[in-house]
Amino acid sequence: MKKVLVTGGAGFIGSHTCVELAAAGFEPIIVDDLRNSEERAIDGIARIVGRKPAVHRIDCCDEAAMERMFQGEGPIHGAIHFAADKAVGESVADPLKYYHNNIGSLVLLLRLMKKHEVNRIVFSSSCTVYGQPERLPVTETAPDRNAMSPYGFTKIACEQMLRDTTASDPPLKAVLLRYFNPVGAHPSALIGELPLGVPNNLVPFVTQTAAGLRKQLTVFGNDYDTPDGSCIRDYIHVVDLAKAHVRALQWMEDGPVSCDVFNIGTGKGNSVFEVINAFKEATSTPLPYVVGPRRAGDTTAVYADTTKSRDVLGWTPALTLNDALRDAWRWQLALKP
Ligand code: UFG
Repeated sequence: MKKVLVTGGAGFIGSHTCVELAAAGFEPIIVDDLRNSEERAIDGIARIVGRKPAVHRIDCCDEAAMERMFQGEGPIHGAIHFAADKAVGESVADPLKYYHNNIGSLVLLLRLMKKHEVNRIVFSSSCTVYGQPERLPVTETAPDRNAMSPYGFTKIACEQMLRDTTASDPPLKAVLLRYFNPVGAHPSALIGELPLGVPNNLVPFVTQTAAGLRKQLTVFGNDYDTPDGSCIRDYIHVVDLAKAHVRALQWMEDGPVSCDVFNIGTGKGNSVFEVINAFKEATSTPLPYVVGPRRAGDTTAVYADTTKSRDVLGWTPALTLNDALRDAWRWQLALKP
């Protein structure tokens, strides 16, 4: 079986991708120090795929540990690099943490990949690189100058690093996936999102509120220039997103292109109020909410043009927002003691 290194493989998107890799006949090798994830994600993967994946509990910036891991694993088919810090607000407060961890880990990974002749990488980028796009839906050719946080700049820098290294080192191929808003959970309810503390993101806050763990959801602003006044995002089911990584690896096996970038979203924008209504509809569960002020740094609306991911990569999402909210809710219920 072809081994695929999955840094951050115990995280939300990483764990779902390990499941899809295994289903497609790859062997995921997880590299994760569990600083922002839990052992139960690895147990969940094992229960879904029927065997425990290899796990290296190491920091992706620890050169000696990463070198030992590469040596111990032997030939590796490709790498998927999820491991990164991802809280936009924290990145404004502590930018050096983000520049060090997010950029440093990719520098080290690429150096070791070259040394050990690993020539394929899929990189977790984000629609945050577009900031507030001028035109919607946003295409991959839109300028990436508008990112509004140090977190966003680390994604832009890492994308550039991959363009530069694939150009200078022809055997290396890279696919950059710009995720929109990943939500949902595996339909088995064995893996899902495990936010530490109070969730920043909408859907975990919704499910925790519906479960009674939070008093009410606050809608961050209803005075935006959108039909109902709340912000619009493109919510993509994490299982569809995970499958895009498998597709990207396979695409690099056949494709002549050395580095390319794809939007990974549904192509459809939904407002915060639409998410609230869809949650009630999908789960028949009440959701108390209030409208509060805008959150600093939020963009008004962003959703993907998915033409390129469909026509070039050959990937299309199969699941809906209602599927994602139903699965996120099932996962929330499974978390209850
Ligand atoms: N929202 C609320 N109440 C909450 C939480 C969120 O109203 O309690 C709203 C936000 O204002 C926003 C929408 O729900 O309009 C989605 O917010 P999220 O925090 O879930 O997602 P973001 O779009 O802000 O951020 C996501 C990723 C980031 C990434 C960014 C790129 O979490 O990592 O997309 O746009 F950088």
